[in-house]
Amino acid sequence: MSKSNLMINGRLIRANVGDTLIDAGIGGRILIPHDCFSGQCETCRVTVASGAVNDHGSADGDTVLACQATVDGDAIIAFEDVPVVSKRSGIVGDIRVMSPDVAEVIVWLTRPFDYLPGQYVSLGFRGFPARDYSPTVRMNGELNKRELVFHIKRLPDGIVSSQLGTGIRGGHRVQIRGPFGQAFLREPDRGGVLVLVSSGTGWAPIWSIARAACQAGLQRDTIVIAGARDMANLYMRPALDWLAGNGFAEVIATSRSGQGGRVKPGRPDHYLPLLSQSDIVHVAGAPHFVDTVRRKARAAGARCYADPFLPSQQAPGLGHRIFRRVSRPPQRLEAAE
Ligand code: FES
Repeated sequence: MSKSNLMINGRLIRANVGDTLIDAGIGGRILIPHDCFSGQCETCRVTVASGAVNDHGSADGDTVLACQATVDGDAIIAFEDVPVVSKRSGIVGDIRVMSPDVAEVIVWLTRPFDYLPGQYVSLGFRGFPARDYSPTVRMNGELNKRELVFHIKRLPDGIVSSQLGTGIRGGHRVQIRGPFGQAFLREPDRGGVLVLVSSGTGWAPIWSIARAACQAGLQRDTIVIAGARDMANLYMRPALDWLAGNGFAEVIATSRSGQGGRVKPGRPDHYLPLLSQSDIVHVAGAPHFVDTVRRKARAAGARCYADPFLPSQQAPGLGHRIFRRVSRPPQRLEAAE
């Protein structure tokens, strides 16, 4: 089998041509962050600084998915420093109905859990299949290292979400594994505007990012746009008020039915500013909506970190795993089940 030189984060290893970058890294005792191994979650996206890799359709600019791309010759690649994946136990501290569609679930952990704002975790309520959710912060902006806050879309036939408040109550045991994902807040490295956009429970990672950006001292002008199907489901309005009172350049809510005050009619992407190359966009929510924003950001040359949620009603087990392996484009199964 022919071999190539592969430099990963400054360490040189010998790698088999044809191996995925993740396998090549493991062969050289370098663990590239990953989750699904199937091109869905984006956790394993790495930058190809030079050389040859076969991206197998996963290229985005100078980045590829390390679980899909294979060694094709000598190359230099790099991945970003992220918290190591770990497990935590905890219990449900509180469940609060926030809107007709959304519940807030507070999980109290036995030990603090390290994640970057915008990453997601696998959350398993004991006796139920694990699901991917993005931890966030309380709507009043309060931060607590020992708790994780989740926004969960409630579906009448959801295997997990339909049980909130009945089969799953305060004191229910939970397991967390993570963190995963690449749509997290980075240190600002150039001027421009930070644009944070969400639909539905996509608000969870966006609120986490906005709160962290504020804590870091708002290095850029920051625009926040949050949408919901209707006024009743604009559950994030207290958080938007908090942001408006804490130096954010513009804070907009949108609803497809109704308007008034901060709330404008239509979808969040209708209110995107004129983007430029120096802007950074974070977008989370329904896949088609995320794709629309991502396309607009790319057209302007802005950097875009996208976190598409895919509602899933699959039963746990083989069918669920097959779905994760074959569906395209890359996206993660999330919150809405
Ligand atoms: S591990 Fe590569 S996309 Fe999920």
